[in-house]
Amino acid sequence: MNEKKNNDTRVRIQRFSAMQLFLHRYAMYFVLGLIITALPVLHRGVFSWVAYIFGGPANLFSSQQDIVRQGVNVARLIHRILGVGLIVLSLVFIVWGLYFTDRRWEIIRPRARLGQMYNYYMKGIHERFGKYNPGQSFVFKLVMVYVVLAILSGVVMWFRAYFPLSVVRFAHLLHVVAFFIAIAELAVHVYFGIIFPPNRKGAIAMFGDGYVPADFAKEHHEGWYEEVMKK
Ligand code: HEM
Ligand code: HEM
Repeated sequence: MNEKKNNDTRVRIQRFSAMQLFLHRYAMYFVLGLIITALPVLHRGVFSWVAYIFGGPANLFSSQQDIVRQGVNVARLIHRILGVGLIVLSLVFIVWGLYFTDRRWEIIRPRARLGQMYNYYMKGIHERFGKYNPGQSFVFKLVMVYVVLAILSGVVMWFRAYFPLSVVRFAHLLHVVAFFIAIAELAVHVYFGIIFPPNRKGAIAMFGDGYVPADFAKEHHEGWYEEVMKK
């Protein structure tokens, strides 16, 4: 893999491959879409304004139902379509991860503990992180948990006629738990991903061409920087 690029005299290192950028972009679209379309289903009263957004255009074509009810139905339909999108994307992720990467999966086993992040960012103590710091690894694991929970329970709810009522009820509970984990995770993820100043370069890479400046890599991911530079 071409991991180093000499651009305008600044050395840049590839942090995310084109496939990673693609998977992240669509995971973001699908999960945000799933959350928005879930809101009027979760609470028709509080989120009636979301139902209006979906129901308004639908009502132009068929005005037999009231707009909120129509909006909820449209949201349900889009939710299922995005659900299928998330399943397909997860399968692509699994196949790519198993067959088209070096399978080192450092994001699962970071070379440092969570407490070392506190030392590094809050106390200014030098810590040596690999490609992913323990916070990023934690985010990844949390994402895996809620995506798997949402998919399994979502399929059960979708095909509820084929499952006993107790299983459907439990799936419903798990689905709502997945929803709250997703909201909590995203709040932390978006904050540290794009708002937290020290990580701006990581964000530019994630939403740009996948490359970070070498000095950023050296400062925040020293173990990984040294490995790439040795190659
Ligand atoms: C991160 C991903 C997801 C989130 C945050 C999410 C969230 C939600 C929420 C909050 C509800 C409303 C639950 C209620 O009725 O109180 C819901 C309903 C539902 N979700 Fe999801 N969901 C996700 C993924 C999926 C996937 C992957 C599928 C299908 C494979 C799916 C299928 C469904 C179905 C069938 C319903 C019931 C809708 C209805 O009542 O007609 N969801 N979802
Ligand atoms: C508004 C939504 C989102 C924003 C702004 C965002 C932003 C980012 C950024 C900037 C990074 C790069 C961090 C770095 O390594 O320097 C990142 C990484 C990552 N994102 Fe997101 N993301 C969003 C949604 C999602 C969603 C929905 C998922 C999964 C379903 C996800 C999964 C990941 C994973 C697994 C990583 C790699 C680990 C990490 O660096 O934390 N992201 N994201």
